Amino acid sequence: MQKLTGKEVGQALEGEVAGEVDTLKAGGLEPCLAVILVGENPESQTYVRGKMKKAEQLGIRSLDKHLPAATSQQELERTVAELNADPAVHGILCQLPLPEHLDEPRITTLIDPSKDVDCFHPHNFGLLAQGKPRFLPCTPAGILAMLTHYEIPVTGRSVVVLGRSNIVGRPLSLLLSAKGRDATVTVCHSRTANLAQVACGADILIAAIGRPEWVGPEFVKEGAVVIDVGVNRVEDPSRERGYRLCGDVDFERVAPRASAISPVPGGVGPLTILMLMRNTVQAARLLSEA
Ligand code: GUN
Repeated sequence: MQKLTGKEVGQALEGEVAGEVDTLKAGGLEPCLAVILVGENPESQTYVRGKMKKAEQLGIRSLDKHLPAATSQQELERTVAELNADPAVHGILCQLPLPEHLDEPRITTLIDPSKDVDCFHPHNFGLLAQGKPRFLPCTPAGILAMLTHYEIPVTGRSVVVLGRSNIVGRPLSLLLSAKGRDATVTVCHSRTANLAQVACGADILIAAIGRPEWVGPEFVKEGAVVIDVGVNRVEDPSRERGYRLCGDVDFERVAPRASAISPVPGGVGPLTILMLMRNTVQAARLLSEA
């Protein structure tokens, strides 16, 4: 059983992105990512800290737009409009989920598509669906990078994606089934009949459902590749912080059946952040050429 670690894949990618940042800076262009966070959701705060830290490490300027939980829709829209209009800002990310009173789809639509480094805007999602993406969505791009790095072929193979979210499952299924990658993709969800049977048809099983350690060996064909996209907090009084992180896959029970498997933490997560940095560099380049 091979362990698919994000660290190994990330090292090469990180070097590439840092090199591109240096080239842009030498030409007088400093890539800049604005990160909007509304409220105090601890998980979102952790994600945002990770993104800002990685930006700093790679020489990308980051703008911290941390707004109070009571921010109104109008105030949030004003922040987005200011960032859209600021020529020094190349990428804009609004950390999801937003507090209940805010209209998430509307905010997603208001971010300038040329600065939409998450690839959440319907325009960018549409380009992706048509097979000519401007940006690759970060988590799916991280998964593709992992498959490429470990030379796991997808062409003609059966891929089962557990989860149909707009952030992972759906865009990933579009990318894998696109011309050039040519996987045969099945997207499963909470209403899928005979889920274990369908999942057992997968050469590559990708879990993105957000349920801690839910995927057991009964979902995995002997010798399959398993990619775990889940990042779940489960209570653990033995830890100082009171919780531990785990994936959607029951690693200990599934690993013996798999030919390769990604762990949580240390799997896809770090690659998602790197892809965000790559998109920010690309946005800066595209905007400077426009
Ligand atoms: N919340 C969970 N994942 C993501 C992501 O990739 N981008 C943003 N903006 N919010 C998220």
